[in-house]
Amino acid sequence: MSIWRTKSIEQSIRDTDEPGHKLRKDLNGFDLIVFGIGVIIGTGIFVVTGRQAAENAGPAIVVSFLIAGLVCALAAMCYAEFASTVPVAGSAYTFGYASLGEFVAWIIGWDLVLEFTLAAAVVSVGWSGYAGDLLGVSTSIEIAGWPVNVGAMFIVVLLGVMGVIGTKLSGRVSAVIVAIKVGIVLLIIGVGVFYVRAANWVPFIPPAQDRPAETAEIGHAPLTQVLLGLEPSQFGIWGVISAASIVFFAFIGFDVVATTAEETKKPKRDMPVGIFGSLIIVTVLYVAVSAIVTGMRPYTELGGDAPLAEAFRAVGADWAGTLISLGGVIGITSVILVMMLGQSRVAFAMSRDGLLPRALSKTHPRFGTPYVMTIVTTVAVAVLAGFVPIGTLEEMVNIGTLFAFVVVSIGIIVLRRTRPDLPRAFRAPWVPVLPIIAALACLWLMLNLTVDTWLRFLVWMAIGVVVYFIYGHRKSRLARGEAVSAPESTGPAPSAEG
Ligand code: ALA
Repeated sequence: MSIWRTKSIEQSIRDTDEPGHKLRKDLNGFDLIVFGIGVIIGTGIFVVTGRQAAENAGPAIVVSFLIAGLVCALAAMCYAEFASTVPVAGSAYTFGYASLGEFVAWIIGWDLVLEFTLAAAVVSVGWSGYAGDLLGVSTSIEIAGWPVNVGAMFIVVLLGVMGVIGTKLSGRVSAVIVAIKVGIVLLIIGVGVFYVRAANWVPFIPPAQDRPAETAEIGHAPLTQVLLGLEPSQFGIWGVISAASIVFFAFIGFDVVATTAEETKKPKRDMPVGIFGSLIIVTVLYVAVSAIVTGMRPYTELGGDAPLAEAFRAVGADWAGTLISLGGVIGITSVILVMMLGQSRVAFAMSRDGLLPRALSKTHPRFGTPYVMTIVTTVAVAVLAGFVPIGTLEEMVNIGTLFAFVVVSIGIIVLRRTRPDLPRAFRAPWVPVLPIIAALACLWLMLNLTVDTWLRFLVWMAIGVVVYFIYGHRKSRLARGEAVSAPESTGPAPSAEG
């Protein structure tokens, strides 16, 4: 039994019709853009931007956004090609299975579980902070001396229940949320522009300086600086690059659009529309917002918990500050929602293939949702968000996502060689040059994350390798010859759960 066995694309598509393990197809291109913006605009622009301007990039945070956006655009070309070729739930995981083999697929699926679960947890903690700020109460309580973030747990459970009831309901709710969120971002740009003082943009790239003592140890330094033997520093050109690898967080989500391919009416047309549409819109908004906010206040004062709202209060526009806080609370909700949805979809696909227990991929007889997986996800995210102090973990989300982008980019080249015959509604230009550049660009951003982040990431992946050899390698449907057989395998699933 080889760890390089691949699952044919035809088989992947057939599996989506398997009774009892089937998702409803009712999303179109516009739904996907709304869905994309719903998950992309969140904690990244509302919180991380200000902090990175204050700590690493100064007004040049605008450049960091352009760098991160460019890397995402390269990866998006590859994502759009695969999502329009392999319209099956599971994103990079499914694609990896078709192109690079089962082991790589497992690794990537395991990695995406990390991305989505931690992202949902990190973002819900952010939500809880904003909610507490708005209500004027603390959303954390102490139980037996341990701080428990009940606000974060509350929102996660609420959204989990919605996930079980159905994507369409969640889709409608997120459309309203997206409208409010985009409105708030436009307000920041439209009102903020009147408060910009060009003097705040000078110096554009603050000169490099040593890190403050509390973040000077090696674990907090970007891996590149350590590998090159540089003193850990902040600001300067290195600061702008480091900030790019962190504000990358703000773009995460366009890849999640690809996880809904199986629920899309015409994935070949709608996928590229959804992926590029949402990415272009948010890039323009991010660049504008970061330019305006750094113009409104000196960058050194942007490090608070709600920097966008604080910038408006600081110039006397309190009404705008309050609206922005409210918009933050509402807007961040949809990010958690879609991250949890993405997580349950990837794990759903892995379970349908037998790499995770099959019982997890049961769909609800009435709602058509992967309810078992959704409940498991909800519990995991709620526990993480409620009990684990989350801080630098957002970097873990970035490293996991960037790694997935690297694999997808390489997968594009492999699949063009092994399956040139497949119809591709969207073809990435300049293959193999563009995917190679995309993979290298993502790797470069990964290398600019901290040493601690790399260590945690390697530990998580090592656990994944062990789980694969103990469970998936033997239990996968491919290993047991089920999926390689002809179309009759679309009949009722042979039970692996009993
Ligand atoms: N891009 C998402 C956010 O910024 C994860 O919250």
